[in-house]
Amino acid sequence: MDARQLKIQAASAALEHVQPGMRLGIGTGSTADEFVRLLAEKIDAGLEVKGVPTSERTAGLCVELGVPIYSLEELPELDLTIDGTDEIDADLRLIKGGGGALLREKIVACASGKMIVIADASKVVETLGLFPLPIEVNKFGLAATRIAIDKAIKSMSLDGSIVLRMNGTMPFETDGGHFILDASFGRIPDAEALSCALYAIPGVVEHGLFLNVAVEAIIAGSSGIRIMKSRGIHEQ
Ligand code: A5P
Repeated sequence: MDARQLKIQAASAALEHVQPGMRLGIGTGSTADEFVRLLAEKIDAGLEVKGVPTSERTAGLCVELGVPIYSLEELPELDLTIDGTDEIDADLRLIKGGGGALLREKIVACASGKMIVIADASKVVETLGLFPLPIEVNKFGLAATRIAIDKAIKSMSLDGSIVLRMNGTMPFETDGGHFILDASFGRIPDAEALSCALYAIPGVVEHGLFLNVAVEAIIAGSSGIRIMKSRGIHEQ
């Protein structure tokens, strides 16, 4: 079964959590896109839900397919968010932001009663960090922020390159008008400590570690669907 089929399977299983009348956070990425497509079919068939997209990209797909969308200002409290991930460990800690939507994704997920992750089995890791960690930074003071991040990670005995994400010849710009630094660690032994260290840097707007946010993950693999549930509380 190819990767797209697995994403469709995970998205389809997530749809079973969607109840009529729900206020839904709708994620970003290729897996979330499959969820939007399946959701649109249900809406065509009469399901009534209100969606809050986590990116302009997802908003565009929702409009194209007829999924009714609202801003988070209009619907500041959501019932459920369904979103993909770049990595997930056994404690449902995530690295997100490969598509650059981490800030809105985290705001929307944290405004939701529940976040469910949908992914194919390739996203499940023992230790987070093989996927470069996206760090969203303010444009102002980019060089200073980069130095501060470098110092912070070295003080934690972490090592890894930090690369400004590009879009062709120009820096990639998020929906919020910020830049992204991708930090390749290989392995993040203490995600909670790294999260705190990054939040302490003024130029860091947000980072892609989602700790204690997801409560359930629907993982599609060659042998079927596996449900992962959160085992406890982790500090951000
Ligand atoms: C978007 O910024 C990301 O957080 C995505 O949720 C993540 O990259 C997963 O994307 P795919 O479903 O395309 O792998």
